[in-house]
Amino acid sequence: MRQKIVAGNWKMHKNAEETEDLLNELIDKLSHDETNAKIIVAPTFTNLASAADHLEFTNIGVAAQNMSQFESGAYTGEISADMLKSIGINTVIIGHSERRAYFHETDAILAEKVTTGLKHNMTVIFCFGEELKDRQGNQHFNIVENQLRDGLFHIENKDWQQIVLAYEPVWAIGTGETATPDQAQEMHKFIREVVEKRYGASIAAEVSILYGGSVKPENAKEIFSKADVDGGLIGGAALKAADFAAIANSI
Ligand code: PGA
Repeated sequence: MRQKIVAGNWKMHKNAEETEDLLNELIDKLSHDETNAKIIVAPTFTNLASAADHLEFTNIGVAAQNMSQFESGAYTGEISADMLKSIGINTVIIGHSERRAYFHETDAILAEKVTTGLKHNMTVIFCFGEELKDRQGNQHFNIVENQLRDGLFHIENKDWQQIVLAYEPVWAIGTGETATPDQAQEMHKFIREVVEKRYGASIAAEVSILYGGSVKPENAKEIFSKADVDGGLIGGAALKAADFAAIANSI
């Protein structure tokens, strides 16, 4: 179902105590239901269980930032879908550009992760987006279409209920550089068309497409006002409760 979503990707920030402090501040700022958006936070693996407990009776959901494509076995350092589900985590971010770039997660690996997440009835926030050189070379539409085709378009029609898309142009992540609201809208409209071509109009109309890349309190409202932008995946600004709440409330 298409809905407004504001998700905070905490990346490799905040130890146990800092996580608890930030969650308390967020509960304080966001529990009054001023926002129309579904709110999600994604702390690191070590703090997911405590975050899930802490947020159980609030309107804030919890997601993992990554997950193994494998069910279980000799995969040192990996975390499985079952492990996440067993601590109450039902949402996972797959395909973030930092996973693609620094940890060499290919489209093929991401496709397997998506399959594993779906199999475990998880909601998958699937991230993708072009690099600066792609946009400068006018390849951004091709790149995005290929990432969707190779990482996601093996799923079935029914699976779309569990998918959220997150368009994150790599050149805008953590750089302070943001896609203009018109650039975001242009790409989100294109993404919906690509989904429509493969899966039909109703699935395309129903999927939530988030924008990510240097969203801040100052630019959130204008970006979120665009017709095909259903919210945001927030990095840096998600680490400050006041900023994250201001972004969420600008939906
Ligand atoms: P940023 O990160 O908001 O710090 O640019 C976004 C993301 O990586 O999801």
